[in-house]
Amino acid sequence: MNSSNQAPIKRDNLIAMLLAYTTCVQVSSFIFWLVFLLQNYSALLLKQRNKRFHPESVAETEKQKYTMAHYEKGMKDVPGEDIHAYNTNYSAHREGIAPEEMVEIYNKWGENYEKDFAGRYNGPVIAATSLAEHFEKGRRDAYVLDVAAGTGMVGEQLHHRGFTAIDGLDPSKTLLNIAERKNIYGRLINSFITSEPTASIEEDTYDAIVISGGMGEGHIKCSALNEMIRIVKKGGLICIVMREEYLDYVEEYKNLEPYMKQLEIEGKWEKMERKVVPNYSFQKNGIVFTYKVL
Ligand SMILES: *[C@@H]1O[C@H](CO)[C@@H](O)[C@H](O)[C@H]1NC(C)=O
Ligand SMILES: *[C@@H]1O[C@H](CO)[C@@H](O)[C@H](O)[C@H]1NC(C)=O
Repeated sequence: MNSSNQAPIKRDNLIAMLLAYTTCVQVSSFIFWLVFLLQNYSALLLKQRNKRFHPESVAETEKQKYTMAHYEKGMKDVPGEDIHAYNTNYSAHREGIAPEEMVEIYNKWGENYEKDFAGRYNGPVIAATSLAEHFEKGRRDAYVLDVAAGTGMVGEQLHHRGFTAIDGLDPSKTLLNIAERKNIYGRLINSFITSEPTASIEEDTYDAIVISGGMGEGHIKCSALNEMIRIVKKGGLICIVMREEYLDYVEEYKNLEPYMKQLEIEGKWEKMERKVVPNYSFQKNGIVFTYKVL
């Protein structure tokens, strides 16, 4: 074969081949970089997404599981016709509820609060009866603070039993407005009760504090007992009525009785009474604690 026979590669063809070659290189390197960038970008997105959603969403499911467990525990012996009211009440007592959210729920509940509890909630009667037993005499003169007064159901029961000097404290303004219309309270104090001194309440002010329905998930903390002791006079009483089962499954109240005992050891107060009572609310047992401040 004679190479001279072969047609020489045309100049134009050579240029075309070169062009095709460089284009190929460029396109593949472009694809390479594109893939590289996309991979990194999606990894970044994934990382961010995980950062944003992952830990909380796990915590959230855990929380829901917890809440469901509590809900089911509390719910199991509630009679059918009471379930709606129970659920409404439960929404204010969910595990992990923030104090502001709780107040918001009570504010919305407002006018329906008493309707939902009519015939289901004997806490106010139990609380007022228990306190009255310790004031055979002197009910007219006893200065009482109804903590977690709400719409004033406890105040009414105290009033029926001859107490006349009653203040109420509650973080829900809407519920206090309803309590005010009953004309049985002196001061109505729109506040939480915590371990901190309550603004506008001097120490050694009251002869007694009474609470019914104020102890629940997200409600009054054990440490608020110190504040109650501060504002009750020496020799005065603190009477707390709550659902008995909360001592078992509300995390905060697993420590309630040990905390009460600790305050007793420290000489802050002395136990007068601890009694379990039937049908506190939704036919569930209640428990009454009465302490005398020292
Ligand atoms: C529980 O209390 C409610 C409300 O007072 C009452 O209607 C109901 O009959 C009581 N149930 C029992 C079992 O005593
Ligand atoms: C609502 O539920 C809480 C928690 O069970 C309880 O302490 C409170 O007494 C209930 N309220 C009434 C009015 O039954």
